[in-house]
Amino acid sequence: MVDVARNPVHVTVTGAAGQVSYALLFRIASGQVFGPDQPVVLRLLEIEPAMKALEGVAMELDDCAFPTLAGLVLTSNQQEAFDSASWALLVGAMPRKEGMERGDLLSANGGLFGPMGEAIQKNAASDIRVLVVGNPCNTNALIASGHAPDIPADRWFAMTRLDENRAKSQLAKKAGVPVAEVSNLAIWGNHSATQYPDAYNARIGGRRATDVIGDEEWVNGEFISAVQKRGAAIISARGLSSAASAASAAIDSVKSVLDGTPEGDWTSLAVISKGEYGVPEGLVFGYPVATKADGTWSVVEGVEHSDFAREKISKTTDELLQERDLVKHLLP
Ligand code: NAD
Ligand code: LMR
Repeated sequence: MVDVARNPVHVTVTGAAGQVSYALLFRIASGQVFGPDQPVVLRLLEIEPAMKALEGVAMELDDCAFPTLAGLVLTSNQQEAFDSASWALLVGAMPRKEGMERGDLLSANGGLFGPMGEAIQKNAASDIRVLVVGNPCNTNALIASGHAPDIPADRWFAMTRLDENRAKSQLAKKAGVPVAEVSNLAIWGNHSATQYPDAYNARIGGRRATDVIGDEEWVNGEFISAVQKRGAAIISARGLSSAASAASAAIDSVKSVLDGTPEGDWTSLAVISKGEYGVPEGLVFGYPVATKADGTWSVVEGVEHSDFAREKISKTTDELLQERDLVKHLLP
């Protein structure tokens, strides 16, 4: 039951009238993310032309009568949106259309993230954590965090959890086991078609996933390609990019940071690299991350890679370096 005496947690969601947010807001408001006893204030940011649609979403949130929803702020003002926020979910950005790669969105979306970084630094609560969902999410997170130098580097995340969930589901189907049996699945690098979903270190029922599957050709070919191109396959089938699965992965990401990963397991998050695994410092890079319930986390050390994996990781690193180069003018 909700504890009304508890201070509410303020959660900012940008792009709040968009399709990912429509699948996200109700789950946050219902207590699924921060717990059934924790009141939540949703601070919803949109651009002016979408404010009317946002009012409709707010009416629906009201109509759910969620006991945990302690307040709603609808605004097109970034300062107001990020005021007192302990979590900022940066969803607001243009999605790609069929035939585009996510990196093609850099010119449309990159410029949004510098001002957001500044507004977060100026207005958010001291315990702010940020998850960037809007694409290309790694480089957007690089831009936003660059404009918020006073916020500690370990508070910034970009979303690779959807790729992890996709990869787990593919492995479970191939092995004919429930998805819950798949663990230790890391997405390395960029949330793009160069990402490396690592089946070699993944486990199925505690055993090496590749031993259980016994089909190296599939693991090195079809599996990797299906995960890398799943976003495009959804756009082609639905005519719109993934929304419910993206929202679900955003919730999984936040919960992993809040609740901690199980002993011996990890989650996939893109974080600001300190040079782990030879990745250039400062890139927002997808790693296996072990989290603790006290909010601390670390990149998992000692994961072994074959030459094949090293080559894939080097390719996705190069792409992120190119993206960083393309947005030089947007970095401080
Ligand atoms: P959408 O077009 O339905 O919604 C985006 C919303 O953002 C719109 O309502 C728009 O008005 C708003 N917006 C645009 N600029 C804004 C700004 N400066 N401030 C606040 N709001 C702004 O798109 P969607 O399907 O919800 O997708 C949103 C983003 O998430 C896209 O960039 C998409 O590619 C990305 N995405 C990422 C992942 C991932 O795994 N990282 C998964 C799915 C979608
Ligand atoms: C996804 O992976 O589904 C999203 O990043 C949307 C996209 O453009 O692929």
